[in-house]
Amino acid sequence: MKLLEDMKKVALECGNIMLSASSDELSVETKTGCRDLVTKYDVAVQNYAVSALHEMYPDAKFFCEEGTDKDELKEGLVFVIDPIDGTANFAWDMHHSCVSIGCFKDGVPYAGAVYAPYTDEMFTGAVGHGAYFNDKPMHVTDLPLRDTIVLFGTAPYNAELWDETFRKAKDILPKCMDLRRYGAAALDLCYLAAGRAGLFFEEILALWDFAAGLVILNEAGGVAMRLDGSPLPLTGEKTNIIAGTEKTIAESGFMNGTL
Ligand code: IPD
Ligand code: CA
Ligand code: CA
Repeated sequence: MKLLEDMKKVALECGNIMLSASSDELSVETKTGCRDLVTKYDVAVQNYAVSALHEMYPDAKFFCEEGTDKDELKEGLVFVIDPIDGTANFAWDMHHSCVSIGCFKDGVPYAGAVYAPYTDEMFTGAVGHGAYFNDKPMHVTDLPLRDTIVLFGTAPYNAELWDETFRKAKDILPKCMDLRRYGAAALDLCYLAAGRAGLFFEEILALWDFAAGLVILNEAGGVAMRLDGSPLPLTGEKTNIIAGTEKTIAESGFMNGTL
């Protein structure tokens, strides 16, 4: 599929920009608070991705994390870009970050490419075309929750959500194999899609965190929704999220209020 191949090319080049960074010249600044970081590489990766995709798809619009590129999502192609997901990992030289490029078509998620340059792992998916890890088909796990690792995010920029986050984390630990907090939500969703983990939750995410991962996960046979079971908002508003398989989500107890 040409669109996805183009998105992959751009994601690979974004990854090369990330790899070219050296930790002493990142120009780290804060945004909404002291934990919410942006480096000159977040900006450089986004600028590159927007200009490359604009050249390929001149009519497409953009909804990106950095700056003000936040077009309406309702019509045509809209690229939803998190230039570096896992910016804190990036700033601290922990090699677990990715570029996440989603594409909406007429208001709904249509394609996604998530590239983790440190491990050279490319996760892709497009509606009706399946999900792929480095060009090989991938699928979610069919294991029960108790035999899987659960991933979660700490909602680091929203202190009011920390109690609920850790209550859930504590309650789910006895129901699974173990917990991980890796620090890049787009990759968390791709790890589910690749069958590496069974469940993921976070109390707040932005559209750019999950737009690409959602398509990839759905195409790999997984599901994602709000913590009350309703569909994720596709309007650009922030949301909580639970993702996994039908089985692991049911076993978690999130849906019937036992967690
Ligand atoms: C963050 C990461 C993190 C998640 C946060 C996100 P950023 O994105 O995905 O894992 O816990 O909620 O905001 O700021 O590194 O792009
Ligand atoms: Ca992010
Ligand atoms: Ca980011």
